[in-house]
Amino acid sequence: MNIKIAPSMLSADFANLERDLKEVEKSGADYLHVDIMDGHFVPNITIGPDQVAQLRKTVDIPFDVHLMISEPLKYIDRFADAGADIITVHVESDGEIQACIDAIVNKGVKPGLVVSPDTPLEVIEPYLDQVRMILIMCVYPGFGGQHYLPASTEKIRACRQMIGERDIKLQVDGGINFDTLKEVVTAGADVIVSGSCLFKGDMKENMRQFRKIIQG
Ligand code: DX5
Ligand code: ZN
Repeated sequence: MNIKIAPSMLSADFANLERDLKEVEKSGADYLHVDIMDGHFVPNITIGPDQVAQLRKTVDIPFDVHLMISEPLKYIDRFADAGADIITVHVESDGEIQACIDAIVNKGVKPGLVVSPDTPLEVIEPYLDQVRMILIMCVYPGFGGQHYLPASTEKIRACRQMIGERDIKLQVDGGINFDTLKEVVTAGADVIVSGSCLFKGDMKENMRQFRKIIQG
């Protein structure tokens, strides 16, 4: 299986974002995972569409935008215009899920849905034929550096089954490091988000280690 790696910008040095994003690009990452938090849907705040648009100009790597915001529908056009290549929306957010998917597709961006740890997978079932990515949160959204929740493994496995032959990427996010990577890949994940682990020390070396674990 072709496994993609998406370093999470949340763990970058925000005083040196351009430098760190170039580092991500040079490391051979497949996507940049951009965590958008509004201090309402989750108890933390990151950046908005204007900052994403500026950052988009600094590197040439697909932007995978993870919206952890209330009323995502209001902001989809702006994140799409900012240069998002993929936009994922939480099914727990107070946006109309169908309308969000339609808005993302209308902008020519790939749509995805995210499920938090306490949300059953069944919620995404009606949308399976319309999304290009499903993101299983392996921690409660809001902060980097949390521990992987072991119950996620079974959920990943079930989601892989649910996807079947469809052309949908199965992304995992939260607590993925050298110790947990093999487990999520074996369970069926094919897009790996990792923040604190990849940004600690040498990104290129960490990516090499990730690829080794994935292949081994
Ligand atoms: C958490 C974010 C993650 C976070 C992952 O809400 O969605 O993308 O950056 O960080 P680590 O890999 O440190 O758990
Ligand atoms: Zn994320």
